[in-house]
Amino acid sequence: MFEAQVYVRRREALRAALAERGVKDGLVVLVGNGESPMNYLDNAYPFRQDSSFLYFVGLAQPGLAASIDLGSGKARLYGEDPSMSEIVWSGPRPTAAELASLSGIAETRKRAELASDASSAGRLLYLPSYRAETRAELAELSGRAYAAVDAGASLELIRAAIALREIKAEEEIAELERAVAVTVEMHKAALVTSRAGMRESDIVARVTQVALASGGALSFPVIGTTKGATLHIHSYGRTLASGGLFLLDAGAEAPSGYAGDLTTTFPIGKRFDERQRAMYDIVLSAHAAACAALAPGVDFLEVHLASARAIAAGLKELGLLKGEVEEAVAAGAHALFYPHGIGHMIGLDVHDMECYGEDHVGYEGRARSEQFGLASLRLAKPLKSGMVHSVEPGLYFIPELIAQWKAEGRHARFIAYDKLASWLDAGGVRNEEDWLVTPSGARRLGPAFDKSPAAIESHRA
Ligand code: GLY
Ligand code: MN
Repeated sequence: MFEAQVYVRRREALRAALAERGVKDGLVVLVGNGESPMNYLDNAYPFRQDSSFLYFVGLAQPGLAASIDLGSGKARLYGEDPSMSEIVWSGPRPTAAELASLSGIAETRKRAELASDASSAGRLLYLPSYRAETRAELAELSGRAYAAVDAGASLELIRAAIALREIKAEEEIAELERAVAVTVEMHKAALVTSRAGMRESDIVARVTQVALASGGALSFPVIGTTKGATLHIHSYGRTLASGGLFLLDAGAEAPSGYAGDLTTTFPIGKRFDERQRAMYDIVLSAHAAACAALAPGVDFLEVHLASARAIAAGLKELGLLKGEVEEAVAAGAHALFYPHGIGHMIGLDVHDMECYGEDHVGYEGRARSEQFGLASLRLAKPLKSGMVHSVEPGLYFIPELIAQWKAEGRHARFIAYDKLASWLDAGGVRNEEDWLVTPSGARRLGPAFDKSPAAIESHRA
């Protein structure tokens, strides 16, 4: 974790951001995560602290909660000292007071005392939950029914937390750079070791090894696949065959919790074939178009549309789209081949703060399109200096989707359905980098990683 003053400053900034929004009294409750059992109580998933708790308190241990009294500014940490049984089975750990001092918190209480503090607070402010245990605890603290807990989350708290967390401080950017550096090593390891005859799980094991050996973890379950046309595939049982493509979408989480998220697509043989090369070039052109548009004040929606126009123009050159590129994109015809958004914010979460609600994080009150493809854009609002986000255009041939649209005659004015038969098995290509918006533009995070076709093929050779 960072030094205690960082968390003291963040909690003060939260209090100020809430006061700006007219909330000057009440108790903010931050519930940390507990252990989450896989199949019986003592067999838990690897522990991951709640990111809001990590941001405002910094402590990565399970079983903690914290409160901030908005009137006085006083913070409390709720947790237990280790029992002898815990010391025997899991080893010694700091007392609650020792943990609190690491976060600049002077007062500690037993975890059970949170309920009485919450009930005596005039107003309770909490964030939305994504785990059943947390929701159950918030139901108890707030007196709301379990199913009504998230509807009672404080909008002002959500907005204040987003306003702080979306602008990365220098120490956070250093951690993000660290996560991306390990992520680059993961991708290079896959690029140089993948061979026809291996299984997808061999590559997934290799990249996981790099992430764990760095002292960190994975920032999300690896997408490592020969079936790149399925956007979020998490099965790894196929065998790599020469002539195919491998798509790796994987990232490391630094020990501090900050995430990296890159995607690389490469031929399983030594070279892209003609069709693969055409797809790859189109995706790189969309990537370049998106990156060229990045600057503070620019709507991320416009960045997405720049990438969509490049995808559509490339498909038109291949004869797969027809008509005016602008019109095809406005109608959403390109989304048959590019059904997701250009990117999302990255921070302590790989999709940063998505637990607060995508519309709060990415749209801030703007209307979200319902058009297929555009509806999946997670971030659309104007960029600000200090934001970190992914850039990840892709091009996919999804046989089931093509069949459905063809049967409906959807966008038949723009889509050359008669030419698609020979592309149905072409698979998918995605390219992803992590970018920081700067006062004058934007810069890519992490060490050099050349994704040009020549560089990819030289790794494969
Ligand atoms: N890296 C997976 C995603 O961004 O959805
Ligand atoms: Mn991503």
